[in-house]
Amino acid sequence: MIMLKNEKEIDGIKESGKYLKGLFEELDSRIKAGMSTFEVDKIAHDYMKKHNCGAPCLGYYGYPAATCVSVNDTVIHGIPSRDIVLKDGDLVSVDITLEKNGFISDSTHTYEIGTVSDEVHLLNERTRKALYLGIEKAGEKGSRLFDIASAIEKYISQFGYGIVREYCGHGVGFEMHEDPLIYNYVSPRNTNSRIKRGMVFCIEPMINMGTSRIKELDDGWTVKTMDGKCACHWEHTVAIRETGLEILT
Ligand code: MF3
Ligand code: CO
Ligand code: CO
Repeated sequence: MIMLKNEKEIDGIKESGKYLKGLFEELDSRIKAGMSTFEVDKIAHDYMKKHNCGAPCLGYYGYPAATCVSVNDTVIHGIPSRDIVLKDGDLVSVDITLEKNGFISDSTHTYEIGTVSDEVHLLNERTRKALYLGIEKAGEKGSRLFDIASAIEKYISQFGYGIVREYCGHGVGFEMHEDPLIYNYVSPRNTNSRIKRGMVFCIEPMINMGTSRIKELDDGWTVKTMDGKCACHWEHTVAIRETGLEILT
């Protein structure tokens, strides 16, 4: 069931998003080679504690950290670790869900550490562009969920990249994961509701440089590309308001 939000509730989620934005600004200036993914998570978690924000990921089905930090061939759900140290040329996505006053926002930024190869840089630029094309579609009058997926898939497919199929975006705001699912590719199985006022959801393309096939590691979380090539992930929380679509993160 899709839980629609009123303007006041959207303001609450926007407030949560404001802190998440602030957190990413801090990461923008601090993430660098030599830092472990554990330290990246610590920066995020310390920020949340300092600003009285909750970390809904921590303890979610036993997940052990406040954030997911996924390096190179890790697509999503990379568990922060002292043993994973960022180095020049790495591509690292930081996926953060944040709670403020009971309202939840969710966003992912992918960082290039030092200088990455041209092909990795392009993967990052194109994945982010795909997110914004999806957002633009979501904001068009009369759009359906399917149109978001189609916009992302159409743009990405020209590069021969793999679109991850097992994971997708989702409603958000009161819970970390709400209905509806927001797909990154078109499938006849997808529910294709009209996008309407009061919906708040995350769009989050997960794009692989090579095959779309993925594998989950024995830790029960880490998702890697099957072929060991790089993956990328961008995510924003958006709301459909009285005034139209607003990006809340
Ligand atoms: N933030 C993720 C999402 O975009 C979910 C995090 S999984 C968790 O849906 F285990 F870290 F909670
Ligand atoms: Co997320
Ligand atoms: Co999400």
